[in-house]
Amino acid sequence: MITYIDGTGEGMEHLIRPEVQAIEVSGIRKMANKVSQYDGVLSLTIGQPDFPTPKHILDAAKQAIDNGETVYTPNAGTLKLRKAASEFLQRKYGLSYDPAEEVIVTVGASEAIDVAFRTILEEGSEVLLPGPIYPGYEPIIRMCGALPVHVDTSGNSFKLTADLIKEHLTERTRCIVLASPSNPTGCTLSLEELQEIAALVEERELFILSDEIYSELVFDGTHSSIASLPGMRDKTIVINGLSKSHSMTGWRIGLLFAPAYLAKHIVKVHQYNVTCTSSISQAAAVEALTNGIDDALPMRDEYARRRDFAYNSLVEAGFDVVKPNGAFYIFPSIAKFGLDSTTFAHRLLEEKRVAVVPGAAFAPFGDEYIRISYACSMEMLQEAMERIKSFVQGL
Ligand SMILES: Cc1ncc(COP(=O)(O)O)c(C=O)c1O
Repeated sequence: MITYIDGTGEGMEHLIRPEVQAIEVSGIRKMANKVSQYDGVLSLTIGQPDFPTPKHILDAAKQAIDNGETVYTPNAGTLKLRKAASEFLQRKYGLSYDPAEEVIVTVGASEAIDVAFRTILEEGSEVLLPGPIYPGYEPIIRMCGALPVHVDTSGNSFKLTADLIKEHLTERTRCIVLASPSNPTGCTLSLEELQEIAALVEERELFILSDEIYSELVFDGTHSSIASLPGMRDKTIVINGLSKSHSMTGWRIGLLFAPAYLAKHIVKVHQYNVTCTSSISQAAAVEALTNGIDDALPMRDEYARRRDFAYNSLVEAGFDVVKPNGAFYIFPSIAKFGLDSTTFAHRLLEEKRVAVVPGAAFAPFGDEYIRISYACSMEMLQEAMERIKSFVQGL
């Protein structure tokens, strides 16, 4: 006999899948919840660009509504958008994907990660995660019954190397995640570094999931994709999207590129997941990827200015920190201050009203770091850096 008490589902919770019960609220979300309890907080926690979506993109969306573009689109997205996405990738990064069979428009990069993993992982598969890393992969890997294998890159300025991969490869390795530029470290992998990784895995039967959502936000040098290297296209799933490059997080446009033999399976998972992405957002995305192909450049230049400022301020305040080369995050070490990352972040919030994300949110070994997002105004960043400096001086 089950008693229902005010929606608590007493006696029923054990019926929820253990893998789902085991998922914890992300460290980023926990921090955001804590921030809402205080007034006057300078929040450096979010991965939300502080620029508005460019006006010509807004206009294209309004036009789509007026044109009645309000019906289902093909599952993989409109052909117009897939063509625009394919041309964008060719022009920017020299990648070549057939819009008819090798491009899928997803609900943000988040859904691209989900459908990619659910297509390629099975019970017992291992996935190498170069950490510290964005926390969006691990829960999905676990829900597939697969195992995340964290590879600690902190001893190598947060760069994944072929040697580090070699140490963790097993018969069960099904996928290696590459994220360049990286959230939370802002580090990038150069063409030469990718070549070394490609040489190691070229002959192996495994996939690379290359999350390139920050590809337009590289400061020094240009973005390289591992899919452009010989032998790698057939085993790589490239994930990109408009959330960061065009400041379109709420529009939910992700882009997945994969060879036809793989994309034809991924699109089935996507179809039964969401049918298709919003038709209005897709129309806006066509505009972004045609007339707005360089929209990210002024934003990138501004992020680079803030990166320089944040890096110099942290060094001046006594932090050990690797200079990031992309995205809009910086990941200083707090080891010398003798506090774990959650205590550091909570005290900084309580004592100085500055919010950052504890490094523990990004890897089991992330506890000696904090993540600072500089997707905020320069004025706010300046004030926050002053407060951080005075906080560590008082420790
Ligand atoms: C590395 C990385 N991948 C994927 C995502 C998800 O992007 P989207 O908002 O397009 O779902 C994020 C968002 O912060 C991210 O940092």
